[in-house]
Amino acid sequence: MLSDTYGHSPIQKMFDNADVYGVAYDEERASRPLIKIGIIGLGGVALSKHIPAIARLRAIWEPVKLAAVCNRNRRTGENAADTNGCRWYGDYKEMLGREELDGVIITGPDSLHYEHAMACLERGIHVLVEKPLSRSLVESEGMCRYAQEKGLILMTVSNKRFSPPYFRAKKNIDNGTIANPAMFVGKFNLGYDYVDILEGGTIHIFDIMRYLMGNVKTVSAVGTRQYDFNKTYYPFDHAISSFEFGSGAIGSIYTSSAALSLKPWERVEVYGEKCWLAVEDQFKLILNDSEEGPSKVFTPVIPNTLLFDEEFGGFMGLIENFIQSIRGAETPAVTGWDGLKALELVCATHLSIKNGGKIRLPLDFAPADKEVREWFAHAEIDQEKIES
Ligand SMILES: NC(=O)c1ccc[n+]([C@@H]2O[C@H](COP(=O)([O-])OP(=O)(O)OC[C@H]3O[C@@H](n4cnc5c(N)ncnc54)[C@H](O)[C@@H]3O)[C@@H](O)[C@H]2O)c1
Repeated sequence: MLSDTYGHSPIQKMFDNADVYGVAYDEERASRPLIKIGIIGLGGVALSKHIPAIARLRAIWEPVKLAAVCNRNRRTGENAADTNGCRWYGDYKEMLGREELDGVIITGPDSLHYEHAMACLERGIHVLVEKPLSRSLVESEGMCRYAQEKGLILMTVSNKRFSPPYFRAKKNIDNGTIANPAMFVGKFNLGYDYVDILEGGTIHIFDIMRYLMGNVKTVSAVGTRQYDFNKTYYPFDHAISSFEFGSGAIGSIYTSSAALSLKPWERVEVYGEKCWLAVEDQFKLILNDSEEGPSKVFTPVIPNTLLFDEEFGGFMGLIENFIQSIRGAETPAVTGWDGLKALELVCATHLSIKNGGKIRLPLDFAPADKEVREWFAHAEIDQEKIES
């Protein structure tokens, strides 16, 4: 699990031991019980984030085995199986029936998360589901309740919570350096018009906001569709969503799917009494806690031998927390319920953009799902008009 030092990599220890790749035998880690993992869905995020994170964990002596992968596409599946020394299945039911898996990471399309996660839970397998937890609040709540009844772990992907600068920002709030924060500001320029701007991307910032600020009471949002070149069905390409938190604090998130996806593409600020902090691009934490200064800037030192992507992207920490939770050695740091809450913020933002005004939480899930679904169905008809 992450510590308050910058991430997993104990850099000083590496230098002292001339272990500049951080791969020296780790007796404590190596003695943990073996966990066998499966993956359903081998697209961009599984191949470039989850599987490399598992490989890095293995390299630092974590007993985790990628036992099986499932993907409809044979070429991709066989390539991943060959590369990772595991079995490929074209049908997830066959994989779940034949393999003895402790946990499954679900990285298929959003629309299949519910089906895939429930199939695992019904077989008594713990799951880590990519965000969004599912496409609907009703289904997401059903998954959470089912996992709870069965005593199974249902985590959702909130890799950013495990990113060292966000982890340290949270510690600064919890330890009182920024006590009772009063305001949150987040910006996210997703920059991809083929991904759902809120549930596909900005949901990460909604979740980080809850992580740092606590539960939300009200949501008011505006959105605009300025550019038609992308021809996506999404009814807006820019949105500003504002929040009132249970604590009395306030906040806003600004997001764009049309501007370029260039750094700095993500920035979060938290304001307290005579202090504030900012996290930029999951890399740099700036802490201002005294008028005389100096500003405290935390950036990792990066020996050129180290690969930080798995670690700073948060995927290593997330997967380690998942497998440690399966072992009963840790508790999940981000649960299905957190995924449901993040999805509720997305849904409330949609409803406020559609109808105007302030949306009070908690939502009534079934009517909220229905209203958003109908709005998007209408938007899809508009898209057909554009394309004809
Ligand atoms: N945490 C993050 O930062 C992050 C980043 C990107 C995507 N995501 C999420 O990860 C998920 C996957 O995204 P992606 O970009 O890799 O998508 P993708 O479309 O590239 O990959 C999805 C894969 O699932 C496979 N698939 C579809 N139906 C299947 C089925 N029934 N059984 C098995 N495999 C099936 C497809 O063949 C494809 O290879 C999405 O839910 C997305 O929202 C998260």
